[in-house]
Amino acid sequence: MPRSVEWRDGKVILIDQTRLPAQELYLTLTQPAEVAEAITRMSVRGAPAIGVVAAMGVALAVDPTAHLSTARSSVEAACDLLASTRPTAVNLFWAIRRMRRMAGSDYPDAAALREALVDEALAISREQEEADRAIGHNGAALLPEGCRVITHCNAGGLATVEYGTALGVIRAAHEMGKIENVFVDETRPLLQGARLTAWELQKSGIPLTLICDNMAGHFMSRGEIDAAVVGADRIAANGDTANKIGTYPLAVLAQRHGVAFYVAAPLSTFDLGLPDGSGIPIEERDPGEICVCGCGGTELTPAGVQARNPAFDITPAELITAIITEAGVLGPPSAPTIRQMVEAAR
Ligand code: MRU
Repeated sequence: MPRSVEWRDGKVILIDQTRLPAQELYLTLTQPAEVAEAITRMSVRGAPAIGVVAAMGVALAVDPTAHLSTARSSVEAACDLLASTRPTAVNLFWAIRRMRRMAGSDYPDAAALREALVDEALAISREQEEADRAIGHNGAALLPEGCRVITHCNAGGLATVEYGTALGVIRAAHEMGKIENVFVDETRPLLQGARLTAWELQKSGIPLTLICDNMAGHFMSRGEIDAAVVGADRIAANGDTANKIGTYPLAVLAQRHGVAFYVAAPLSTFDLGLPDGSGIPIEERDPGEICVCGCGGTELTPAGVQARNPAFDITPAELITAIITEAGVLGPPSAPTIRQMVEAAR
């Protein structure tokens, strides 16, 4: 698996996800503003990945030859800029908070500050890789033999660092010989399923069938899907979960057809400050994205047509069979069990 993001020789290297699957193009970023732009235009996307890359962006802010107070101001400015890129995935704010905390310690000079920030960004990246493996292990145990599973959007290695959360569960179950087929929702409007999840699964030799988002009910009603596994951008204290637009209707369909509906996410995706999903900010993107096919593709609509483009929706906790984390499985999720697991890990 290619890594979605890497720190190499003091630079951030990203695979440009807007170009996949046609081109495997890598971007080299050296400034926090370049990182912020890459997040905004979704060259890097997926909740954990944007947290990791933002942390690296904060480290880039420090010129090791600068005066310490200047370096600290640059860190603050980079944190503010990176926090303004995308509002829904809480991993972004969690990672920036960690970087701010690290920057607040005492250092003899800017070079020492930079070294500490690089170390912290690499720790966030490493911890995400470890979390993915544990999520995969914990989730694979829940899937039946010969499982036909559906996933939405891309919660794979591209959306984390390497292995993935929802796709980590599917990868681990595939390694155990349990996966018969993965139904991949194309995921309008930006086609993260068709472009990215299909690319990842095909590269890994995992059998897949691409479907349009509106076909899931058809296959569920015919008994062709055994489980759904999706990722998350933010999980409120009661288990209500924000994920890519289209996740909520998939969960409703799963409940209607008695299909288990799993959310796979690291503990950094929980936001215990929000009692339920109603407080989760939902990013509204350029409506123009739904008037074209995929990333900057052919025009689909008459010019000037009115459109709305919310990028995420909220799946109520009651529709979720279990939330799979690196620390274990919360099933069904509830406010007390979530709080206990998240606080035990801190
Ligand atoms: O808009 P995106 O592509 O960043 O949305 C990504 C998702 O909704 C993912 O499912 C989520 O971030 C989990 S990624 C492990």
